[in-house]
Amino acid sequence: MKFTIAIIPGDGIGPEVTSQAKKALDAVAEAYDHIFLYKEAQIGATAIEATGSPLPKETIEICKNADAILFGAVGNEYYDNNPSAKVRPEQGLLRLRQELDLFCKIKPVKAYDNLIYNSPLKRDVIKGTDFVIFRELTGGIYFGDKEISKDEKSAYDKSFYTIDQIKRVAHLAFKAAQRRRNKITLVDKANVLATSRLWRKTIIEIAKEYPNVDVEFMFIDNAAMKMILNPKQFDVILTENLFGDIISDEASAIAGSIGLLASSSIGEKNALFEPIHGSFPKAKGKDIANPLASILSAAMLLKHLGLDEEADAIERAVEKSIALGITTKDIKRKTQTSTSTSKVGDFIADYITNQDDSN
Ligand code: IPM
Repeated sequence: MKFTIAIIPGDGIGPEVTSQAKKALDAVAEAYDHIFLYKEAQIGATAIEATGSPLPKETIEICKNADAILFGAVGNEYYDNNPSAKVRPEQGLLRLRQELDLFCKIKPVKAYDNLIYNSPLKRDVIKGTDFVIFRELTGGIYFGDKEISKDEKSAYDKSFYTIDQIKRVAHLAFKAAQRRRNKITLVDKANVLATSRLWRKTIIEIAKEYPNVDVEFMFIDNAAMKMILNPKQFDVILTENLFGDIISDEASAIAGSIGLLASSSIGEKNALFEPIHGSFPKAKGKDIANPLASILSAAMLLKHLGLDEEADAIERAVEKSIALGITTKDIKRKTQTSTSTSKVGDFIADYITNQDDSN
């Protein structure tokens, strides 16, 4: 089959890890007789340097017309250290989410048996952890009115949600719970925030349509603690934009490394796949960044295109590389030598090709 895939490498380690994911996709195309047409586009600091805009029009067009989007990372130290800069790399990603109406970010979190040693948490606490975070992505404080006063002595960010925004992401989460262990935890701050109370009210109504799904409510501060004390209790976590951003990074401690977690951002028409790690500027160009999250994002992308078997082939290759210790420094046992970003990518691509040969 033939698919058009938009590739947006972005900043920092984005280009390095994305090109390893592309190697995996090429291996899949070859082994399973597909044609992937790649359309590369710019975003973030790289796009600002080249065009003055963090999200050039051409990028939006390429994304809109693609069957799926593989995204790297945005962010750059120059902008992090210059809070007054008006044009910022992150605006590129936020605008893209808005333009494509990517309203839900889905992040699966699993403890890999072979990597448990790498987690700062105790083995017994994390072994068997398997949950997924559904984060609302186009509302809340990220997109509400915001302003710094003229004298720069005060500032505000407004958090805003409509029932419809809550409903559409909630239905996706409930449906996912029905395919999993029938449990949803709504993470909010309903003891303080009006938007959180609207979320609770809406979820209580929607839950009536899914009688077999257990719903629990948990304040974000408590959820942040429970995720470390007993992560196995979670199945589907549903939450708003900012809380979702924060607990997703926290959840990466369970997987053993932030370099392993992939995500999908879903809209009615488009879908974008990206590692949850950021641009990691200090590692840029050193061939040391972990490419597995990007490679697993490519596997998610294939599932979205209905290519389940092909996605499984990538996941098996990733598990093999971890089992054999062919991994970057971040998930390496102390006694092992590390493998470079590009060599991990080569291993994964070869393994996909050879798996197919042995079938
Ligand atoms: C993420 C990132 C983004 C966010 C940044 C880069 C704007 O942290 O996708 O989780 O905060 O949403």
